[in-house]
Amino acid sequence: MNPLIIALSKGRLLTQTLPLLKAAGIEPAEDLSDSRKLIFDTTRDDVKFIVLRAVDVPTFVARGAAHLGVSGLDQIAEQNLDDLYLPLDLKVSVCRLMTAGVVGAPLPLGRRRVATKYLHLAREYYARTGVQVELIKLYGAMELAPLVGLADEIVDIVDTGNTLKANGLEPRQLIMHSSARLVANKAAWKTRFEQLKPLVDQMEAALV
Ligand code: PRP
Ligand code: MG
Repeated sequence: MNPLIIALSKGRLLTQTLPLLKAAGIEPAEDLSDSRKLIFDTTRDDVKFIVLRAVDVPTFVARGAAHLGVSGLDQIAEQNLDDLYLPLDLKVSVCRLMTAGVVGAPLPLGRRRVATKYLHLAREYYARTGVQVELIKLYGAMELAPLVGLADEIVDIVDTGNTLKANGLEPRQLIMHSSARLVANKAAWKTRFEQLKPLVDQMEAALV
């Protein structure tokens, strides 16, 4: 059988994920963080790691280019891909997707301008709540948008709330809770069940 490909992304999530993989007997054969390589051998012959941008992990897994990966539920829900199975909540990177705006600022009576990188989840949320919106796609620093008159509201991740507070913004409505999830390709979950299930069980047992 071809090696099992596990999609990871650099950053804090990687630091939190590697100990769980280690508990399942899988460690990178070299240091991931100070390498420009994107594909890595592991201590198991039948397992390789690939290192991607976090936002790309669901795509690689959904299309079967990786069999397993780690991604935030916010990204998984935003991308709304078929063929993903979520076998395990890793209970790290816990955060909320929320609407937020300038403290005390009234909302416009007409169409609300909303800046976000979560176009799909924002569209769904405002449709569900019957609010007319114009969505403005941004790639980061959403908190800036209401401060300079680009938007009336933002939809973004809130963790500690420090970024909102530092910019004079207030959290408003909760859209969803998120945390890091193990994502598996649905077909691979069936065809490689004997290989994947024990790995997921061992990672689950290592969760604090
Ligand atoms: C994330 C998120 C919020 C902030 C939330 O941004 O988009 O801005 O962290 O964390 P807090 O509630 O603890 O302040 P990030 O720093 O990842 O940058 P980006 O939005 O520009 O990608
Ligand atoms: Mg941000």
